[in-house]
Amino acid sequence: MTAASTDSHAQAGAAASNASRRQILVTSALPYANGQIHIGHLVEYIQTDIWVRALRMHGHEVYYVGADDTHGTPIMLRAESEGITPKALIERVWKEHKRDFDSFGVSFDNYYSTDTEETRVLSEEIYGALKAAGLIEARDIEQAYDPVKEMFLPDRFIKGECPKCGAKDQYGDNCEVCGSTYQPTELVNPYSVVSGATPVRKTSTHYFFRLSDPRCENFLRSWVGGLAQPEATNKMREWLGEADEAKLADWDISRDAPYFGFEIPGAPGKYFYVWLDAPVGYYASFKNLADRLGLDFNAWIKQGSTTEQYHFIGKDILYFHTLFWPAMLEFSGHRTPTNVFAHGFLTVDGAKMSKSRGTFITAQSYIDTGLNPEWLRYYFAAKLNSTMEDLDLSLEDFQARVNSDLVGKYVNIASRAAGFLIKRFDGRIQASAMHHPLLGTLRTAIPQIAAHYEAREYGRALRQTMELADAVNAYVDTAKPWDQAKDPANAVALHETCSVSIEAFRLLSLALKPVLPQLARGVEAFLGIEPLTWADAGKPLSAEHRINAYQHLMTRVDPKQLEALLAANRDSLQATPSAAPADARKKAKDTKANEAKDGADQSDSISIDDFAKIDLRVAKIIDCKAVEGSDKLLQLTLDVGEEKTRNVFSGIKSAYRPEDLIGKLTVMVANLAPRKMKFGLSEGMVLAASAADEKAEPGLYVLEPHSGAKPGMRVK
Ligand code: 2FM
Ligand code: ZN
Repeated sequence: MTAASTDSHAQAGAAASNASRRQILVTSALPYANGQIHIGHLVEYIQTDIWVRALRMHGHEVYYVGADDTHGTPIMLRAESEGITPKALIERVWKEHKRDFDSFGVSFDNYYSTDTEETRVLSEEIYGALKAAGLIEARDIEQAYDPVKEMFLPDRFIKGECPKCGAKDQYGDNCEVCGSTYQPTELVNPYSVVSGATPVRKTSTHYFFRLSDPRCENFLRSWVGGLAQPEATNKMREWLGEADEAKLADWDISRDAPYFGFEIPGAPGKYFYVWLDAPVGYYASFKNLADRLGLDFNAWIKQGSTTEQYHFIGKDILYFHTLFWPAMLEFSGHRTPTNVFAHGFLTVDGAKMSKSRGTFITAQSYIDTGLNPEWLRYYFAAKLNSTMEDLDLSLEDFQARVNSDLVGKYVNIASRAAGFLIKRFDGRIQASAMHHPLLGTLRTAIPQIAAHYEAREYGRALRQTMELADAVNAYVDTAKPWDQAKDPANAVALHETCSVSIEAFRLLSLALKPVLPQLARGVEAFLGIEPLTWADAGKPLSAEHRINAYQHLMTRVDPKQLEALLAANRDSLQATPSAAPADARKKAKDTKANEAKDGADQSDSISIDDFAKIDLRVAKIIDCKAVEGSDKLLQLTLDVGEEKTRNVFSGIKSAYRPEDLIGKLTVMVANLAPRKMKFGLSEGMVLAASAADEKAEPGLYVLEPHSGAKPGMRVK
């Protein structure tokens, strides 16, 4: 894996004076290396990128780093299911992620990976320092263990029947049917999602970060005071509890082999939990960059540093970034984050992103459909503010806003004025026009707009910009250059109108530049000027200056493109289902948030490819008997046209006498992972019909094909 700089932005922009030049490290959350980037992710990367660009335009020394979050059980199992190594998987996904970020103009100074030497060394250093400070403790804990796969199971990998309502295939922590929450140990007939085996309880030594230590608690109580968002402060106060409550639990930072991650020094077979090394990945990415640029890495990250450090995240991972991460840093001799900025989640047309509606939109599909990435940047920016409120992408509004604001109000100013200026005035500006009061209004507004960006009030910045665009359009409508052009006697007035328009357009472009960097480059080329910075607000175009011929800067959104986008996602995503959500995710308390960020609705329709994965076979029931000790199960011996018969336990005892089934044909799922049960191994599942509410309308009906079907025939 190669580290890559998108381009060197950090030093771009007017250099702020030495005294005011800030040194700023910025991060966005690291995406897991087992899934595609989708528009839900893009909210965060676009939000961060706009902020970073706005700060660079002041001339500050800004570094924006990211990386793929590569470790943990889901990634290990995903690679296994694809028949490749985790390293091969993360390498492939890294390239996809990098491509997507580049496409959307996300200007990372370095995009790296947590599966790197820098992350390993830094994680070990931090762990070593915490240990030396007496904040690491080994403790034996009992956990669910898959005896077939020989691995401990995160909660997310155990399913079973809901202890409250009996719904099948529910996760170990909450029931999606009745909504109740419970412990994984309470599930009825639990099974491992990995192998189908019944989990057993097994004890193992784990390492804990002693967050309950009064030192940690006291530190966090004071650190919370500096958080920018009142919602974050409130959340943290809730987690910390009252002064005498000691609510913080110790944090389990180790996982047992097999695990894809870094082995803990001095603890063979124990690995750092993915969430331990993930945020360290921020520093690893920055270290990799610092080494290449010759920066003094330690001066940025050690305690006492005068630099600033900001983390942009989704609200579901606040816990990790406002408790674990600052405490890890504080007690390992590092500086702590200056601030953490959390955002809300994205809905599309008012609902959770959905595969069946095609609103689970991947970054790649957006680009492939030919939509302009800057349209989405603009739309998200128009909706973003500094709070954690959720935001909605309404496709109708998207089209209307982009077309009316960007094309109708903004780009048109240039296209209307440029032609006359080039043809009649050799592309030159009228010097006196630069004193027009309208331009004074715009120049005064620019620092206010820059401040809105820094305060992450992008919606406000854009509203103010569009109000200015309205004022410019009103000015043009009143001056009527198309009429002025009809009479040569009006040449001076026409020159003024066009000059004011073009200078106003330059200032509006400056205001939009953090959001629309690509478009800004086009404007800079058209106007023949250096890259715009905030300081350029007060430097009007000069009379000697000559603009270039106007090139089309932006097209309108065509509704057909949006239809194609939805269609593309209805198809493509069903063919490539997203990976199982990481165990870490479930730890974050905000289930709603999790759904929004991670979970497209899984209950929707499936594609033919998904259906083809189920190997349904005609089976002949060779033998059938009751199972001693079970009042639900029958034991079936099935001929599926293979060399050996299959043994299947089926919960149909209430409906059938064993002898009535012998000799009959039925249909079985032949490629279901074998499931170890109390009575033996079950090697498949027999299909039976029952009412949706089995309690209200009892009755089970085993499926039987028409006569003539042979054992082993494929059902499709
Ligand atoms: O929630 C997630 O998607 C994590 N991969 C974010 C990690 S952010 C940081 F801590 F690395
Ligand atoms: Zn339930």
